[in-house]
Amino acid sequence: MWILYTIGLVLLISFAYAANAGAPWVPTWKKDFERIVKLADLKSGETFIELGCGNGRVCRAIAARAPSPFEALPAGRQGEGGLPSEALAKDGGRGVVHVIGVELSLVQVAIAWLQSKLAGLSNIHIKLGNAFHTDLSNVDVVYMFLMPETYEKIRPKLEKELKPGARVITYVWPIPGWTPDVVDEVEGSQKIYLFRR
Ligand SMILES: C[S@@+](CC[C@H](N)C(=O)[O-])C[C@H]1O[C@@H](n2cnc3c(N)ncnc32)[C@H](O)[C@@H]1O
Repeated sequence: MWILYTIGLVLLISFAYAANAGAPWVPTWKKDFERIVKLADLKSGETFIELGCGNGRVCRAIAARAPSPFEALPAGRQGEGGLPSEALAKDGGRGVVHVIGVELSLVQVAIAWLQSKLAGLSNIHIKLGNAFHTDLSNVDVVYMFLMPETYEKIRPKLEKELKPGARVITYVWPIPGWTPDVVDEVEGSQKIYLFRR
């Protein structure tokens, strides 16, 4: 019995630690997924990262709507019947956008990992890690739903590491000190901000 208590306590501590490090777990609304997919406007070969991915629901929405591998291959390299056989084989037919979810809470990482496996999405990589220690130099799109004070703290890292042209999308709050390129507003829903570096 004490083993169960110990596991429970470790999970609880991990949850509380993550909440204290950047934001408590509150999910992005499902009805807003499509807006995020549109704003991200991912192209084949691009990398999307969610810092503080929670249970990975946004990562799954992005991965499931990734551009078709068909778009990734130039004409002439496509397989029989118009199917890009090379890309399909390599990516399990899931498209060629790479989706990474980084999460500090062990419980959430386990759920996100399991759900992405159950969904059969081979282009998602869920990592246990801290947003502040994650290399962003090869990332095309960053998505975050964290607290405004966390955005303030992570801003210098984004400014230092993100490549020119990278996009940053934030849910509910903007990044203090940055001017958004797009403020996506829908009545009865949360604001979503798009920034281009
Ligand atoms: C407001 S929730 C958003 C969850 C998810 N992004 C979504 O939109 O559904 C914030 C998440 O970030 C995680 N988190 C907080 N600080 C973090 C940090 N420094 N590094 C990684 N994850 C963090 C929390 O554990 C929590 O799951």
